[in-house]
Amino acid sequence: MTRVVVVGAGAREHALARALTASAEVTVVPGNAGIAAHGIACADVEIASLHPDLVVVGPEEPLVRGLADELRARGVRVFGPGAEGARLEGSKAYLKDFLDAAGVPTAAYATFSHEADALAYLETMSAPYVIKTDGLAAGKGVLVTSDLEVARRDVVAKLRGDAFGAAGSTVVLEEGLEGFECSLHVLCDGTRAVPLLTAQDFKRVGDGDVGANTGGMGALAPLPVVSDEDVRVIMREVIEPTLVELRRRGIDFRGVLYAGLMVGPGGAKLLEYNVRFGDPEAEVLAPLYGAGLLELLDSTARGNLVVPAVPSGAAVTVVLAAYGYPHAPRRGDVIFGLGADGQLATPVEGVSVFHAGTARDEHGRFVTAGGRVLAISAVAPSLEVARARAYAAAGTVSFEGMVMRSDIARKVVS
Ligand code: AMP
Ligand code: GLY
Repeated sequence: MTRVVVVGAGAREHALARALTASAEVTVVPGNAGIAAHGIACADVEIASLHPDLVVVGPEEPLVRGLADELRARGVRVFGPGAEGARLEGSKAYLKDFLDAAGVPTAAYATFSHEADALAYLETMSAPYVIKTDGLAAGKGVLVTSDLEVARRDVVAKLRGDAFGAAGSTVVLEEGLEGFECSLHVLCDGTRAVPLLTAQDFKRVGDGDVGANTGGMGALAPLPVVSDEDVRVIMREVIEPTLVELRRRGIDFRGVLYAGLMVGPGGAKLLEYNVRFGDPEAEVLAPLYGAGLLELLDSTARGNLVVPAVPSGAAVTVVLAAYGYPHAPRRGDVIFGLGADGQLATPVEGVSVFHAGTARDEHGRFVTAGGRVLAISAVAPSLEVARARAYAAAGTVSFEGMVMRSDIARKVVS
């Protein structure tokens, strides 16, 4: 059996590992309490010591640090780009420069490290104002506001390092785009690119897309308003020029290019690239691809990508976050409604519980141990049924101060 190591410790890695266990022997490094409870091996060891046939890197930080390069240098097959390719996500300023060079449609922008220049430029912009930290900020470094005074304060806080430390020492000020968001995950084997099902992530903490940006409060796939023809246009206008520019820069990108797109009246524009699976998008995509995921990831890493069969059905995931998320999540609240295996104590058809931030207390109970705590994922023949299953399941799980949106996927099914 193929030996696979999944690197990471969250719900995304749980979902990927779960789908891969259908056809491989999987170890998650380091994993978490809920993944281990689900019968998937977790180990906090050096990856090479496990002699994997394939390593799948979940989060962006190790990719930006060059983990994929280190492993490839030792002859290990890796799903995930090297440090050069990961700069697409690691630096917003690099990304914008790359997109200009490639001719990819994106929001107009300017980059600043000096407060006075940034504030002067801000006065020339019209609302909504979009202010981004340059470096990695776990999806939380972006402010979109129509209040100029709030925008000014954010620029100052970011540039003074109050908000994100060194990651904020350069800011990108961007034109606000209108439309709806779509996450398109594209597998790239260095030469070819194949899109997976479209997905949508819900980034704001509150119902109706209000409140702070988070890592993602829920997701759905596929996104019905985006047609196959729309995807072909995005591949032609966004992805193909990106691949050409990657090759021009000598970057052999083997992994997933996750395009965060704003689809508006003038077509799709790129908001950002991520160089790994979205979290929580992986929690809807991985269960849909299921046993087919191993071949997809392995052939991508080998450089001879197979074209995936399009899965039928739909999936919805609802994130349960800790009290105080996203600003100051509280740890240690006891979670009710889970069995010893970390899955639903009262099972609901088609539902898996993926653990993001959980731990076991001294009595063996699951407790909150991070901002996002659990992702409740449901697959079903339709989005409507998937949504109903996910919320039925979420209703059986509880902990003090639980933060959950009640409107994930509501618009697309009503
Ligand atoms: P990013 O990390 O760049 O994807 O930004 C996080 C979120 O901020 C996105 O998912 C959008 O909801 C929002 N956002 C980012 N850039 C823009 C923009 N130019 N116009 C409108 N909303 C944006
Ligand atoms: N779903 C947002 C992210 O993974 O960055």
